Amino acid sequence: MSEKQIFQPNPEFSKSANIGSMDEYNALQNRAINDYEGFWGDFAKEKLDWIEPFTNVLDESEAPFVKWFDGGKLNVSAQCIDRHLDTRKNKAAIIFEGDRGDVETITYLELYRNVNRFANLLKEDFGVKKGDRVVIYMPMIPEAAYAMLACARIGAIHSIVFGGFSSAALKDRIEDADAKVVITADGAFRKSKPYMLKPVVDAALEGDTPVEKVLVVERNNEDVTWKEGRDYSYHELIKSKSSECEAEVMDSEDPLFLLYTSGSTGKPKGVQHNSAGYILWAQMTMEWVFDVKENDTFWCTADVGWITGHTYIVYGPLAMGATTLMFEGVITYPDAGRPWAMVEKHRINQFYTAPTAIRVLHKMGEDEPKKYDLSSLKVLGTVGEPIDPPAWGWYYEEVGNSKCAIVDTYWQTETGGHVISPLPGATPIKPGCATLPVPGIIAEILDPITGEKSEVGETGYMCISKPWPAQIRSVWGDKERYVKSYFGDVKKDGKAVYFTGDGARYDEDGYITITGRTDDVINVSGHRMGTAEVEAVINEDENVAEVAVVGKPHGLKGECIFAYIVLKSDDHITDTAEEVKAINNIIKQEIGTIAMCDHIVFVPGLPKTRSGKIMRRILRAIAKGEEITQDISTLEDPAIVAKIESMVEC
Ligand code: WT7
Repeated sequence: MSEKQIFQPNPEFSKSANIGSMDEYNALQNRAINDYEGFWGDFAKEKLDWIEPFTNVLDESEAPFVKWFDGGKLNVSAQCIDRHLDTRKNKAAIIFEGDRGDVETITYLELYRNVNRFANLLKEDFGVKKGDRVVIYMPMIPEAAYAMLACARIGAIHSIVFGGFSSAALKDRIEDADAKVVITADGAFRKSKPYMLKPVVDAALEGDTPVEKVLVVERNNEDVTWKEGRDYSYHELIKSKSSECEAEVMDSEDPLFLLYTSGSTGKPKGVQHNSAGYILWAQMTMEWVFDVKENDTFWCTADVGWITGHTYIVYGPLAMGATTLMFEGVITYPDAGRPWAMVEKHRINQFYTAPTAIRVLHKMGEDEPKKYDLSSLKVLGTVGEPIDPPAWGWYYEEVGNSKCAIVDTYWQTETGGHVISPLPGATPIKPGCATLPVPGIIAEILDPITGEKSEVGETGYMCISKPWPAQIRSVWGDKERYVKSYFGDVKKDGKAVYFTGDGARYDEDGYITITGRTDDVINVSGHRMGTAEVEAVINEDENVAEVAVVGKPHGLKGECIFAYIVLKSDDHITDTAEEVKAINNIIKQEIGTIAMCDHIVFVPGLPKTRSGKIMRRILRAIAKGEEITQDISTLEDPAIVAKIESMVEC
């Protein structure tokens, strides 16, 4: 497989695809270019059920603070549930498969009732009101989706924290959002064994906390400690709740959720998404990028703790009335055939996962796909990081039997939904290439200095030059950081445009290949880690004087974390292996296992400019085992480079 190869869409598939040709693609994109507000206004009217119609499509008067569909009123949970009841009440909304293979199907009518009961519980027992923040710290069980939709129903703003984050990370997020309620579970099952979440919540709530009530969903029924007056059993409280709960009338621009993500500086940012624009794009990309049809079963393997889980397990599939599969377990357990067994069992039509998962499944079970009937598959998706052509090739040939389109979807927590991706019935695809903007998205690779479009083959900055409905609206509690983080680096025609933080280049066909982050963000298994965040935690170790972390390419994870540490004094440190362990332990406690370092080297100093700036580029090259080609004579201490090189064995 090479990036030069090109694969045409399957003609049989294109015939009935929602967008079936490049002519259709171009017609849509030209409409967006020539009549931006007409394009979005018409789709918003057609795709959403409005309680009151909007009066204005896009208000840019306070850009980059934008308003979409102003004046409109709707409720996102009603978009996802109520409007399907006439035609789909007995259709499966969620198919849940537990770690141990247990399956539960929840129809749209059942989903309606479960969400309403949940919403009534939050209102009546916990006093949750419109605008309140609710933190969700949950395993992958249907109640996680009920919790999200129940918040949306009553206008509360949910903030999901991925279940792999530590109590300290959870505490930070709870405090930043000033949440008064946490929804969690006792725990769940992983590889047939129970694991726990509630103790992490208990630790996060020690000391001062804004949290008044904790709701605990019983999943694995292991013993947990209960704090009187704070902790409540979901199964106890839900019994008496009515299955009717009127949906709160929300403005288009009322916040729907916060989701914390790492940036290149400081603490994680609370990315704020609002109601109408987000749900519109979640639904439209389901239809266009995954081409989901009425009887399809869609499976996205992400966790609801990430944006992929928000948009493509819960909001997108349900907004379009689709059937979404939710999986509690681990895709390589009991063996690397698990996902293919599940594709066969549930007749999955669209399968969406991350390159890191594809590499692991390939490595651990190259021939597993052959053992199962995968003929139901139509579209295969990937997201999270650039996909390497060998992984792409295996996915295309062995999983997709060379007949399924691969949609390499490029997007971010901040974009809410896909922004660059092939459309499976229209776009000829190339391995490792995200191809073209999704219709409606004006994405361009710009030169950061001139603001001009980059030349073919030249790496520039991946930008989005017009606001789009699902874009981040602000950083929670820090409007200035929103402006600085996303609208500070690139100007086009004198106007600040949204910069994603990624580099990219055009090929001769105008296709876009994402080359990776240009900032100090490391992409570990498709998850973003800020170098500053990891460094701050390592600095907490009393023996550490200075630290710099960089990303190093990793065969399975994409990138792993490599830390260069200067100790205050190594006199009393006799066991460096112990010190490495201690440092990774702090990371585990403060952030979570995903941020643990694969490599830690103790060095006598760091390469710095005379003004004291750490030259990470040099450290990245050393970590990769590359030769240093850049001029190091301007460093404060040029000799340090050779010293560090000699200490790193690659
Ligand atoms: C970053 C966003 C979007 C959901 C998962 C991650 C990288 C994402 C691709 C892709 C190359 C990709 C970018 C982006 N990324 N998709 N198809 N090709 N890179 O969400 O944690 O917000 O991370 O993931 O670097 O900026 P996230």
